[in-house]
Amino acid sequence: MIRVLFNKKGGVGKSSLTVNLAAIAASFGHKTLIIDLDTQCNSSAYLNALQNSEQDTIADLFAQSITFHIHRRPAKDFCQATAHENLFIIPGSTRLTEMESELHSRHKIYKLREALESLKKDYDYIFIDTAPALNFYSLSALIAADRCLIPIDCDDFARQGLYSLQQKIAEIREDHNDALAIEGIIANQFLGTANLPKQIIEELKAEGFNVLPEYISQSVKMRESHQAKQPLIHLAPKHKLTQSLVTIFQHLDTAE
Ligand SMILES: Nc1ncnc2c1ncn2[C@@H]1O[C@H](COP(=O)(O)OP(=O)(O)OP(=O)(O)O)[C@@H](O)[C@H]1O
Ligand SMILES: [Mg+2]
Repeated sequence: MIRVLFNKKGGVGKSSLTVNLAAIAASFGHKTLIIDLDTQCNSSAYLNALQNSEQDTIADLFAQSITFHIHRRPAKDFCQATAHENLFIIPGSTRLTEMESELHSRHKIYKLREALESLKKDYDYIFIDTAPALNFYSLSALIAADRCLIPIDCDDFARQGLYSLQQKIAEIREDHNDALAIEGIIANQFLGTANLPKQIIEELKAEGFNVLPEYISQSVKMRESHQAKQPLIHLAPKHKLTQSLVTIFQHLDTAE
């Protein structure tokens, strides 16, 4: 199952959730791959996967489709092991920016889907982290994925962006990928003591959005986990934040 975490809004938890859900999947024994499609490379940095990755980033994989290669390397050659058992990553790269217009003008929008088709049989779970923009790469991801998870930070701007996102996903489903479904909205940085987040979630549910039943609270543990370059399941397996993420993963797992 290929999942993309996407929201045009920045800082809502796409990278944090990609890495932590993937790390939980891996810790439960599932072979899991992360694809980092963001030039910020936050999920790659989180997993300490930026060293020694000169030739093995997602940009190198895309570059093969626009430059001549006598021997094209298969997508599996770009998957790197991480420090955690069962967890692999194709790291991000800042070079994605300079390649974007050429990839776009040469109609390479299905290249990621082709690459993932070849990897699908090797992994139980594939999670794709995206940039906070509907650019060539996030569109490629939405075309390649089976499910889209949408993290929100429970503020009013987040809600406004959801309507256009829902419409865009319907368009992609119709034009490119009839398998694509919005699996759910993940309420992140939820503050149970304030009224607004609860109100926003209730309104979203009333409008028919599937907000996953477990909300992820705001906790400094998340930042500590980034700093330590250790996913929460390894840094703080018993922490409330970790347990919420496990519950979300289990929700996805049973939805397989
Ligand atoms: N539940 C949480 N509690 C506390 N801090 C959080 C939580 N989730 C995310 N953060 C923090 O919020 C910031 C943004 O998170 P993250 O980078 O995962 O979002 P993003 O959607 O990937 O951002 P971007 O759009 O820039 O790629 C980070 O500093 C992260 O540590
Ligand atoms: Mg990010």
